[in-house]
Amino acid sequence: MAAHYLDPVMASLREAGLQAEAAIVPAGEAAKTLAQAGDLYDRLLAAGLDRGSVVVALGGGVVTDLAGFVAATYMRGIAWIAVSTTLLGQVDASVGGKTAVDHPRCKNLIGAFHQPAAVLADVSTLATLPEEEFRTGLAEVVKHAVIRDAQLFSLLEDQAERLLARDPKVLEDVVARNVRIKADVVMADPKESGLRRILNYGHTIGHALETVALEAAGKLGRSTPRLSTGGATLTHGRAVALGMMAEAHLALQRGLIGRGPLHRQEHLLARFGLPVHLDAAVDLDQCLAIMRHDKKAVAGRLRFILPESIGAVRDVDDVAEDEVRRAILTLTGG
Ligand SMILES: NC(=O)c1ccc[n+]([C@@H]2O[C@H](COP(=O)([O-])OP(=O)(O)OC[C@H]3O[C@@H](n4cnc5c(N)ncnc54)[C@H](O)[C@@H]3O)[C@@H](O)[C@H]2O)c1
Ligand SMILES: [Zn+2]
Repeated sequence: MAAHYLDPVMASLREAGLQAEAAIVPAGEAAKTLAQAGDLYDRLLAAGLDRGSVVVALGGGVVTDLAGFVAATYMRGIAWIAVSTTLLGQVDASVGGKTAVDHPRCKNLIGAFHQPAAVLADVSTLATLPEEEFRTGLAEVVKHAVIRDAQLFSLLEDQAERLLARDPKVLEDVVARNVRIKADVVMADPKESGLRRILNYGHTIGHALETVALEAAGKLGRSTPRLSTGGATLTHGRAVALGMMAEAHLALQRGLIGRGPLHRQEHLLARFGLPVHLDAAVDLDQCLAIMRHDKKAVAGRLRFILPESIGAVRDVDDVAEDEVRRAILTLTGG
């Protein structure tokens, strides 16, 4: 990523008369560690950054989470600007002020709320983004539309081909609408005590599937998580797509939505190359154990964000484990 965009950004900072130094971190989630943050503190100190300095995070969600965390903690917090270069970063990670690094046993365990002073999303950077990374972003885009914006959902259906071709005009419109949705939700509930939870749609079951796949990969000595979705790696976006399908089925079972909205969601995800079925069964007990642990279930009841229509969701806290099992089974045609 630095190979594409570091030089122009450095040149533009210098042109503006600003003194700037670059620090490059390795690509991928493995860079989101306290050790990496420690190296960056050394770099900031060596470069003489003080409380009036600004950190510019140029990259995907990994970089904005990490650099934002470093900015949140260096000298008890200095200003930072997010310059996001992935679709997921532009529509999700760079907006909302959550910053973090991972603990070996738990993703995003060590973090801080620290709003960036500005967020910059230049959709022309998405031209070089690998296809799978682009799809991961699309899963969050569909999520935003389902939870909050029926008009965006229709636009995605109408403009799917141009969006997949990464037409800059369509990208600009889609990214702007998504930023507005995320920013609205976050502004109403910055610390996730209520409304912000709606952003978890698809993520409760999605995260359980992601964890199951990761644990399975660990046992097999593989570095990438896999579940049976045509043999593909189970990226975050793929897991969220499956999670949204299972959670929409849960809503259908409860009579919250009809088959119409469920099928629209299914078709759109499939058009975006995201999985809507699993080829083989998953370990339901393991999934449930992960969700119980994550969500601190009350009296065996789990909490979910469930769709009521395209564009509206409800926070439901009395879901029985059997309902969840049935919903996950629908992914394998059960
Ligand atoms: N803070 C939040 O609210 C929030 C929300 C969602 C996700 N996240 C975090 O975001 C992270 C995932 O972010 P991501 O999906 O952007 O992944 P990422 O940052 O790992 O980027 C994906 C890959 O694309 C490369 N890349 C980035 N921009 C590129 C470009 N323009 N062209 C070519 N290659 C490019 C990166 O080097 C990397 O290899 C996770 O750590 C997740 O926890 C945070
Ligand atoms: Zn997500």
